[in-house]
Amino acid sequence: MNRDHFIELATPEAVRSVAEKAEKAARLLREAARDYAPVVFANSFGAEDMVLTDLIWGRGAEGPDIGIFSLDTGRLPAETYALIASTERHYGRRLEVFYPERSSVEAFVGSHGINGFYDSVEARKACCHARKVEPLKRALDGKKAWVTGLRAAQSPTREALKPVTFDATFGLVKLNPLADWSEHDVWIYLHEKRVPYNALHDHDYPSIGCAPCTRAVRPGEDIRAGRWWWESPATKECGLHVVEGRLQRAVPASVKVSRGDTPTSRKVAA
Ligand code: ADX
Ligand code: SF4
Repeated sequence: MNRDHFIELATPEAVRSVAEKAEKAARLLREAARDYAPVVFANSFGAEDMVLTDLIWGRGAEGPDIGIFSLDTGRLPAETYALIASTERHYGRRLEVFYPERSSVEAFVGSHGINGFYDSVEARKACCHARKVEPLKRALDGKKAWVTGLRAAQSPTREALKPVTFDATFGLVKLNPLADWSEHDVWIYLHEKRVPYNALHDHDYPSIGCAPCTRAVRPGEDIRAGRWWWESPATKECGLHVVEGRLQRAVPASVKVSRGDTPTSRKVAA
C-alpha cells in the first residue's frame, strides 16, 4: 500500500485519533525540553522524522526547545539531500549536520573498498560505525536526552520499544514519541499538515537510509525489507539503536515524562 492509499483510507475518526496522538507526542517533547535540556532530535528525514520535525519546528514560538541534527554519511540518496534543503526552506530554520571523521572513512575504504559494506555483515557494520555511530556520539556529547523517530511496529528488533527509555549505549535519556504510531498514522499526519517528505516514499521506499543500502520494497514485503536487503532481519540495525527491546534500562526516577502504549501492524499491504 502506498501513501495515497493510506490517505484515501483515512476516516474522520482516524484523523482525530492521529491529532490526539500528535498532541501526546508534542506534550512529551515539551516536558522533555523542560526536564532534560539540552535535548536534541536525530533527524534522518524519513517519514516519521518529518512528523517530529513538524512537531518541533512547525509550532513557531510554541515549539519545544529541541535542536535538530542529521548525520550525513556521504552516501545518502539525492532525494534526501533535496528534502533537507526544502525542509530548511519550509520552516525557515537551519539544522546542524554531522560528518564522519575523514580518517575513519579513508581507513574503511582503504581496507574494504568503496562498496565494501556488501561483502560481510562485519564490513557493513564497520561502515555504519564510521559513518553513523561515531558522528552520533559527537552529536550527543553533552546532551541529556535525544529524540528519535523509531516506531515499535517497524521491525522485530524494535517491538518492545517504549516512548521513554534510558539509552545505556550513549548514557542519556532516549525519547521515541512515535513509539506507538502506525505507518498509517504517520501518513495521515503528513498529509493533514502538508509536511514535505522524501520523494522516494512515492516509489515504494517506506524506509530510507544510505543509497547503496536501500532498495524499493515489493507488495507484501516488510517495510524494512529494502534496508540492507542482502542481510537477515536479525542483523538489520546500524548501531544507532542496538539495544532496542533488549538491554534498555529502566528510566531513572527523575524522568517525569508520560508513556504511550502498543505497536500496530508491521507489513506493507499489497
Ligand atoms: S537505522 O538504524 O535503520 O538506520 P532508521 O533509518 O530506522 O534507523 O531510523 C530510526 C531513527 O534513527 C530515525 O528516526 C532517526 O531518529 C535516527 N537516524 C537514522 N539515521 C539517521 C541519520 N542519518 N541522521 C540522524 N538520525 C538518524
Ligand atoms: Fe555504510 Fe551502508 Fe551503513 Fe550507510 S547504511 S553507513 S553506506 S553500510
